[in-house]
Amino acid sequence: MERKLILAIESSCDETSVAVVKDGREVLSNVIASQISTHELYGGVVPEVASRMHIEVINKVVKEALEKANITLDEIDAIGVTYGPGLVGAVLVGLQYAKGLAFSSKKPLVGVNHIEGHICANYIEHKELKPPFVSLVVSGGHTFIVYVKDYGVYEVIGQTRDDAAGEAYDKVARSLGLGYPGGPKIDKLAKEGNENAIEFPKANFHENTLDFSFSGVKSAVLNYLNKCKMQNIEINKADVAASFQKAVIDVLKQNVIKTCKQTNSDKIAIAGGVASNTALRAALEKEASKYGIEVLFPSPILCTDNAAMIGSAAYFNFINGNISDLNLNAKPNLKL
Ligand code: KG4
Ligand code: ZN
Repeated sequence: MERKLILAIESSCDETSVAVVKDGREVLSNVIASQISTHELYGGVVPEVASRMHIEVINKVVKEALEKANITLDEIDAIGVTYGPGLVGAVLVGLQYAKGLAFSSKKPLVGVNHIEGHICANYIEHKELKPPFVSLVVSGGHTFIVYVKDYGVYEVIGQTRDDAAGEAYDKVARSLGLGYPGGPKIDKLAKEGNENAIEFPKANFHENTLDFSFSGVKSAVLNYLNKCKMQNIEINKADVAASFQKAVIDVLKQNVIKTCKQTNSDKIAIAGGVASNTALRAALEKEASKYGIEVLFPSPILCTDNAAMIGSAAYFNFINGNISDLNLNAKPNLKL
């Protein structure tokens, strides 16, 4: 098939990113303008600030992505863009820009589900990866176990009933005074701690489902910290980080392996910001190897929000004929 070039735009949270992706798997450029240092000041993402910052940089980021790829807009076959889920004001900036660009350049517009984008990051990293496989999507906003039946065909097997895994990491990190985003900080600190020091409740929702609940373990950590403060007990932050992380990872691991058995899958592709967690990677690989299951993960830059993954998802949508209308609207709660 003739080669297809996608210009992809991502702005659903606190990264403005634009990429040029060839045939869904080859990244020609992936420019990411992160707002993290601004949101750090507030301890989390401030939606209104995020939208304004996307507006300020998007034009520049698009230009830079084309330049880095050494591609002109003329050569692009389609414009891919995240239209949800995410912060509505933030999503709208990228979406409106993409619609304007598609209209003025007479190129097809391809709306992409952000969660699908995270999964597709694995197609970029692992050139041979083909469906079917099981994917664990763990990010700041989402926790899903998905059975990827085919390109663009997903069955959600389990999901969080309350907080996302990354959200729990961020909240626990904040209560430990580690700052935002908390995931990487807990990841690092936990290496110095004892994961069996404190027994926090597991993030299991119910025995009969593969759904998760992370608010219980998060509250248990907060209660533990309060209790220690009130009783003047010294807190070992590394032990808290390691024990919290174990409670989260044990359940992710257990449910994803159960899903592989149910679907007869021998591959797990993890995705999303938390997929760069070193303890999760190690624990999953160890457990999966017992059953001959292979664990795949994207490099860290493709785990957290980026437009290359959106370009990959847009490519598979595009070649399957899933073109969007120019009145495509932002869907903050878009489902997979
Ligand atoms: O995928 P992402 O960039 O944004 C969303 O779509 O939500 O994920 C961001 C999340 C944050 O909660 C961050 O704390 C978490 O991913 N994260 C990590 C690590 N790196 C990022 N969590 C645990 N360990 C890490 N190494
Ligand atoms: Zn994301």
